[in-house]
Order: sequence, then C-alpha cells, then structure tokens
Amino acid sequence: MKPVIAAFPATRLRRLRSSPAIRALTQQTLLTPGDFIWPVFVRDGEGIVEPIASMPGVNRLSVDKVVEAALEAHALGIPAICLFPYTDASLKTEDCAEAWNPENLSNRATRAIKEAVPGIAVMTDVALDPYNITGHDGFIENGQIVNDRTVEALVKQALSQARAGADIIGPSDMMDGRIGAIRAALEAEGFHNVLLLSYAAKYASGFYGPFRDAVGASGALKGTMGGDKQTYQMQPGNSDEAMRLIERDLQEGADMIMVKPGMPYLDICRRAKEMFGAPTFAYQVSGEYAMLAGAFENGWLDRDKVMLESLTAFKRAGCDGVLTYFAPAAARLLNG
Ligand code: PBG
Repeated sequence: MKPVIAAFPATRLRRLRSSPAIRALTQQTLLTPGDFIWPVFVRDGEGIVEPIASMPGVNRLSVDKVVEAALEAHALGIPAICLFPYTDASLKTEDCAEAWNPENLSNRATRAIKEAVPGIAVMTDVALDPYNITGHDGFIENGQIVNDRTVEALVKQALSQARAGADIIGPSDMMDGRIGAIRAALEAEGFHNVLLLSYAAKYASGFYGPFRDAVGASGALKGTMGGDKQTYQMQPGNSDEAMRLIERDLQEGADMIMVKPGMPYLDICRRAKEMFGAPTFAYQVSGEYAMLAGAFENGWLDRDKVMLESLTAFKRAGCDGVLTYFAPAAARLLNG
C-alpha cells in the first residue's frame, strides 16, 4: 500500500504562535519582578556610588545609597535585596572578628534598610571571605581549611545578622554542618522565622572573578593556596553530589536552596526541583553578568532581549527565583 501523504500538515504547531494574543495564552513561563533577589555591594562612607570595573553598570554603594537602592527595588516590586560588604583591608584579620561585629558594614546596612523600607526582605551572606586576611571562606590550619572551627565562627556571624534584622540568611561557605548549627542557634535565640537560603550546590567556579574584585577579596585569595576553593566548593562535572548536598541541607533546616553559578548549571536546577520540590534559586553570578554586560556594551547582543531571555531560562528550568545583578533593569522592563 502506498503511504498517504497529506496535502497539508496535520499538526500546525505554528498556529500556537500566530499572534501576540495566542502567544500570551500559551506562554508557559512568566517572569515577574517578584522572582528577583538583587545582590548589592556595600562600602563605607556617605553619598558614594563607586563603579566596579569588571561589572559595568554595577556599583559599590555607601549605606545611604543602599537605602535608596532598597527603596527603588521595593517600588519596582523586587521582594529582596542581598548585601555583600566591601571590607577595608584594615578590618581583615586572622580571626575574622569583624564578621560578627554588630556594627560591621553589613549589619549597619541591614538596620538602615529595615528602618527605611521594612517591606523589603534583607538577605545576608554568611562566609568569612570578606573578613579573612587569606580571602578564604574558612580558617586555615597547617595549610588546610578547617571545618568545625569555621562553623563556630559562621554561627556567630549568622546570629549577628539575625540580631541586625536580616530576614534571609545565606550561608555561602560550603562547610559541612553549618546549616544545622546555624538553625539550632537561631532557634535558641528565638529567631524562629529567620529563613535560611543555603548555597547548597555551589561550584568551584571561574565565574566568581568579578565578585572577588567587587568585595576586595581577590588579592589576598590569590596569595593563599593559589586562590583555590576546591576543597570546599564542588567540582563542575558533578551532579549527584549536588543532590546529596541539597538533601542534607534541607534535612538540617534550610528553607530554600540555591544552585550557583546559574546559566551553566540549569540541569542542576531542574534536577533539584524535580527531586525535592523545595524553593529553588539560582545565582546568575558576577562572571555571567560581566559576560553579558560586556557584550551589551559592545553592541554584540541586544541588552533588553537577552537579559529577559537569560532570566526566563532560570524559571523554565524550575527555579522559583533568581539572584541577579540585572534585577532593577529587568524589573523596569517587565513593569513596562
Ligand atoms: C563567597 C561568595 C562568592 C560569591 C558569593 N559569595 C565568591 C566565592 O565563593 O569566591 C560569588 C557571587 C558572584 O560571583 O556574583 N562567600
């Protein structure tokens, strides 16, 4: 028998793309400003907006300017802002005591934001690198990053952030047991509603370079163990290990989990979401931002289009939200 060849395609999938109205009806993934957490760099001083060379369009802001940024973010519908302090070299020590100083930059900025813009959630970073003379996230003994003594310090740092009013605490250090230890300490002090967003699957990535410049950690880090964080951050080829880390952190009391970097690790986001169904975030990190911003500046890529496309991809991959330096620009576009 001769096969029947229809004179027209039986299924015309293009019909579903045929007009803006039909495309709106069939749109599966919707990006909104409510999906963003905006990372900002805080520095000392007043009235300061200091550009970061390797991140065109991103600035280090003094506390008063961070408050202005938080007001702007809130007005744009961005639910959370994440603080990263640029710590002066004179405040970096071997014991990292500045990390839990109630008056440190991060805690001062948290209090200022919560007072001026109570409606925005403040997220803080738990890790020793901005305060450590070695630039590492943990203490070093005999040439090794030591886990348990580092966790004790991280607990002090997290508590000082909760006392300053942080809503979401983000341990980004990759030490073992820190989520459980921080959760227990928060409960003991009555901080029952402070959320933990664990940087659970954090890779030893080359994409963090511009961030380390932004927080002033690059110089010291390169001089210690070659700047190598591979004994605590994950190797890029691994996926099963990411699932074990996420499962462990959820069991220890994390409310939300993060995959970092973002764009090169969307498979990890998808797998994590399908396996655990927990609130899942990705961090579109400094190097991803620099890559795109550089291409935008040179006119090699269409800024508005590519920005939104890159962020939509996170949601399609299963993320509930994204940490992105594009947050205000993308929110402005989405708000029309
Ligand atoms: C360090 C930390 C890093 C980032 C967030 N927290 C860098 C690192 O691990 O060296 C990177 C964020 C970015 O690149 O945008 N605790």
